[in-house]
Amino acid sequence: MNQSFQDKVVIITGGCSGIGRAAALQFAAAGAKLFLADLSEKAGDETVDAIEKLGAKATFARIDVTDVGDIERMVADCVQAFGTVDILVNSAGILGPRARTEKYPSVDFQQVMDVNVVGLWNCMKATLPHLLAKKSGCIVNVASVAGLLGFGGHVAYAASKHAVMGITKSAAVEYAKYGIRINAVCPAFTQTPMMDNELMNDDSNYFELLQQSIPMKRFAQPDEIAAGILYLASDAASFVTGHGLVLDGGLVVV
Ligand SMILES: NC(=O)c1ccc[n+]([C@@H]2O[C@H](COP(=O)([O-])OP(=O)(O)OC[C@H]3O[C@@H](n4cnc5c(N)ncnc54)[C@H](O)[C@@H]3O)[C@@H](O)[C@H]2O)c1
Repeated sequence: MNQSFQDKVVIITGGCSGIGRAAALQFAAAGAKLFLADLSEKAGDETVDAIEKLGAKATFARIDVTDVGDIERMVADCVQAFGTVDILVNSAGILGPRARTEKYPSVDFQQVMDVNVVGLWNCMKATLPHLLAKKSGCIVNVASVAGLLGFGGHVAYAASKHAVMGITKSAAVEYAKYGIRINAVCPAFTQTPMMDNELMNDDSNYFELLQQSIPMKRFAQPDEIAAGILYLASDAASFVTGHGLVLDGGLVVV
């Protein structure tokens, strides 16, 4: 089935880097209008330029997903700019530091939960009334294989992504009868600034270990994860809700 998003209005949090940016460009190439919410004005301007070069429309807003006022403004400004919202992609997220549980700083645990869980949940809360009003639309949350498996050294991140899966499945049940589908992608290690930062300054063989843990023996490219996001948001997935689409080079089946 052809994945056309002609004139669909898509909000993407974390839409100016890594997986969110790749999804924004793929939605734009398929005819969508993009509302990008992220922290960096510079990355925002650069991503809007890239989208406009594809002949599509995009707006950037500096939004911190830990700020409820910012989120309400994000949805209101999107509706004002484009008249509606059809699709929400929650890609904003942080990894947090790598440390064993007894040494993991509480302040970082709280921060990871604030961004990855409470922020995502508030974005859904602010968007759902608009989807309910027209009884259509969908949400794609960017979870992780760490939402399905343990991730040693990253207890907060794994806890947050398990929570994203719980939110996705519960909300899917709540809104299915209103024509609203809610799904998640569960990527394994993907070559983005988040992974680059994690691997930078690591003089151990951590990179090698992570890469070798994947049966395909490589990390994903952001476009490979974006393709899964577009599938879940498309009419090709019209009977799919509450699903976690695993995009992992075979990691979870080992
Ligand atoms: N890269 C991986 O290996 C990988 C694997 C599985 C899941 N993920 C998930 O994919 C999503 C995207 O990550 P990425 O790898 O593209 O990383 P990234 O760092 O390139 O992108 C994350 C984006 O989120 C934004 N962001 C962070 N905190 C924010 C906040 N408080 N408010 C608004 N925006 C905020 C950042 O500015 C950035 O643009 C995340 O949810 C991440 O957990 C990544």
